Amino acid sequence: MRPGNKKAIEEMFNSISSKYDFLNDMFSFGLHRLWKRKLLDILNPTYGEKWIDICCGTGDMAILLAKYMSNSENITGMDSASKALLVARERSKKNYSSIDWLKGDALETNLKSNQFDGLVMAYGLRNLSNSYVGLKEALRILKPGARAGILDFRSFGGCSIQGFFQKIYLSLYVVPVASLFGLRKEYLYIQKSLIDFPSGEKQIDLALSAGFKKANYQTLARGQMGILLLEA
Ligand SMILES: C[S@@+](CC[C@H](N)C(=O)[O-])C[C@H]1O[C@@H](n2cnc3c(N)ncnc32)[C@H](O)[C@@H]1O
Repeated sequence: MRPGNKKAIEEMFNSISSKYDFLNDMFSFGLHRLWKRKLLDILNPTYGEKWIDICCGTGDMAILLAKYMSNSENITGMDSASKALLVARERSKKNYSSIDWLKGDALETNLKSNQFDGLVMAYGLRNLSNSYVGLKEALRILKPGARAGILDFRSFGGCSIQGFFQKIYLSLYVVPVASLFGLRKEYLYIQKSLIDFPSGEKQIDLALSAGFKKANYQTLARGQMGILLLEA
C-alpha cells in the first residue's frame, strides 16, 4: 500500500486495531507511553480546557489527556478507523466514559471552528494524504492562542547514523515481528510513510505556512522521534 490512499489506510488501521496496542508496546518497549506523557508535560493541558486528540486510534492520547486533566468531559478523540474507535470506547468506558469518540477525517473534520484550547496528534500526521491540509484543518478548529503538539517518527534524508538505525530497527525488528502476527505488509507501511514525511525545520515551515503563529520542534528518543509544538 502507498501513503495517500485514504480508504486503504482506513482499512489497514481497522484490520490491526485489535493487536495495535500490544504491538505498539512491543515495538517501542513501552516507551511510546513516556513520549506521549512528555508531550502532555510540555503542553500542560489544564482542568476545564477543551482538547481534541486527532487520529486518536485506540485512544491512548485522549485517555492520557483525561488522566492528566482529571476530567474526561471536554475531551474528544477522532479517527477514521471505526474498529480502532471501538477499542478506544471499550478502554475508556470504566473511568473516562465522557470522552467523545468521533469517527471523522482529520483533513475535513466537520467540527465547528475556533472551539478547542488544545490539540494532540500522535503518529497521525505521517498517515494523512496531505499533512498541510491536516495542519490547516487543525488550526481551523483551534481557538486563537490555543496550543497543539504533534508526535511522530522523524524521517532522515540522505545518509545518517540515525537514519541507518531507523532502517535497521524497522526492517530487522518491527517488520519480522509483525510478520509473526500476519501483519507484515501493514508494518512495512511505516517505512513507506516516512519517505516523503517532513521533519524538523520542514515541519515547522509547513505549520507556519498553514497559518500557525508559532512552531517549534524537539526531538526525543535519541533523535528517533519528533514533537512539533504549535501555537494557533
Ligand atoms: C499509527 S496510528 C496512531 C494512533 C494513536 N494516535 C497512537 O498514538 O497510538 C494512526 C491513526 O491515524 C488514523 N488516521 C489516518 N488517516 C486519518 C484521517 N485522514 N483522518 C482520521 N484519522 C486518520 C488511523 O486510522 C490510525 O488510527
